[in-house]
Amino acid sequence: MDIYVDTANLAEIEQANRLGLADGVTTNPTLIAKENGEFKEILKGICQEITGPVHAEVLSLDYENMVKESKELAKVADNIVIKIPMIHDGLKAVKALKSEGIPTNVTLIFSAGQAILAAKAGATYLCPFLGRLDDISSNGLELLSTIRTILINNPDLDAKIIAASIRTPIHVVELASMGVDILTIPSKVLKQLENHPLTDIGIEQFTKDAEKFM
Ligand code: E4P
Repeated sequence: MDIYVDTANLAEIEQANRLGLADGVTTNPTLIAKENGEFKEILKGICQEITGPVHAEVLSLDYENMVKESKELAKVADNIVIKIPMIHDGLKAVKALKSEGIPTNVTLIFSAGQAILAAKAGATYLCPFLGRLDDISSNGLELLSTIRTILINNPDLDAKIIAASIRTPIHVVELASMGVDILTIPSKVLKQLENHPLTDIGIEQFTKDAEKFM
């Protein structure tokens, strides 16, 4: 199981990387907009920190410009993966980019049908968004499980799943139990996974008792 950091913030990426929690990084236009600097410069900085895949999203929505933009983004570094939105022209772009050896991540997947189309188009990664489904009273984990079953039962669909829009430690534990290939996790959730109130209470007690020997 690979863990990616779901952020464009270099300090957060460095912190996760020091703990072995940055097998890759996912960004999106919203995450990059939170940082200071130029779009490609921000990506370049991340690619220098991380040896694994760094996912960068195209901003265009039509086939020609998506392909053009993807080729430009791919020049930023060898470890760039192009995120393409799950739309008709996006699928066309995925197919064209695959034939040129450029890896893609089809993002904004909200149904198993979309995942099948993206995998057939040749996506390297499928990126279903859990949290946003949960937000509208749908079941994100159920979708992940269905997509995983489809890929297992159809080995010709050669794509990996990146579970995205992860909002809680419970999402992480459920996805890991399911055996999902890759989880992209925001720093806030990584921190929540690290902490436990009983650990804090235990340390406080041990520290107090250790005073006897000091
Ligand atoms: C990552 O690739 C996605 O863009 C990200 O996980 C979306 O998360 P959000 O739904 O919390 O914005």
